[in-house]
Amino acid sequence: AKLLLLNGPNLNLLGQREPDIYGHETLSDIERNAQEKAATLGHQLDYLQSNHEGVLVDRIHQTLTDGTDMILFNPGAFTHTSIALRDALAGVKRPFIELHLSNVHAREDFRHHSYLAPLAVGVIAGFGSNSYALAIEAADHYLKK
Ligand code: DQA
Repeated sequence: AKLLLLNGPNLNLLGQREPDIYGHETLSDIERNAQEKAATLGHQLDYLQSNHEGVLVDRIHQTLTDGTDMILFNPGAFTHTSIALRDALAGVKRPFIELHLSNVHAREDFRHHSYLAPLAVGVIAGFGSNSYALAIEAADHYLKK
């Protein structure tokens, strides 16, 4: 199947950004590992990171025509703020998994609420860069069932 991995704002700084919370792996490490993992399971994985809400909205809209079967999304801080991303995901009706490196529920109160999670198939949070591998496995199971 065709998977789309989206990463939101500040995730381009992974590796140097608050490593105690987010680990030492860079986003390229994560994207490369995700692509390998997807390939092992027989899937194709496309990816995009953006610091701009509208760019992410546009990329979600593209899934209407590019054959994407499932979206894996770490929306970063937009998780807690973005009705526009929620509406985009609702609009394209593609199944998606919300994922986070950190356990957002163990952190500040403002990270406990997600505008996107109510529409997600499921949420994976707290496993560091392994959250991405787990999300790919979850997508694989979901698409095969
Ligand atoms: C994050 C958690 C968010 O609360 C935060 O704003 C991020 C990263 C995570 O992967 O743990 O930028 O999505």
